[in-house]
Amino acid sequence: MRKSFAILASASVLALMATAAAAQNPPPISGQQELSVGARVYAKSCASCHGANLEGQPNWRQRNENGRLPAPPHNVRGHTWHHDDETLFGITKLGTAEFTGLDIESDMPAFKDILSDDDIRAVLTYIKSRWSDRIRQRQDSINRRAGNR
Ligand code: HEC
Repeated sequence: MRKSFAILASASVLALMATAAAAQNPPPISGQQELSVGARVYAKSCASCHGANLEGQPNWRQRNENGRLPAPPHNVRGHTWHHDDETLFGITKLGTAEFTGLDIESDMPAFKDILSDDDIRAVLTYIKSRWSDRIRQRQDSINRRAGNR
């Protein structure tokens, strides 16, 4: 009898603690939410060319028969991290040709009519989340040099 009371009592203490924790915990941090949106956007809009695992297309440094470059990896082996945030955003939103203003043919589509700015930021956050700390730090200093932050 006493034992079951103890169990009941501790169960209600636990329930109280859970309620208190729920009241104290802020809603899920936006970083986490942004990452899961970014992962979804990546799978839907980028993975077909840049690879499900960010690995890029085979022989991505060699132009194909119509003179275009294959999609480079977005992981640490590629050069995505050599660019500051605004450049990555601009390339994704406008496509390489429009962003650079150069007369080049590129298979990188413009996502301005497909993705919102928030989706673009989220997918870039997701890509960055797959880099090592060291590479993230190096890209951070590229950002600082570019005056982005
Ligand atoms: C139809 C194929 C295709 C899809 C889909 C695609 N890309 Fe690309 N992307 C390319 C190609 C090809 C390049 C290579 C360079 C060029 O010609 O612009 C590229 C280059 C890039 C670059 C520049 C990388 C660098 O190192 O210079 C970024 C950033 C990029 N893509 C982001 C994205 C994101 C983010 C998505 C999804 C929202 C995406 N791409 C979807 C084909 C694609």
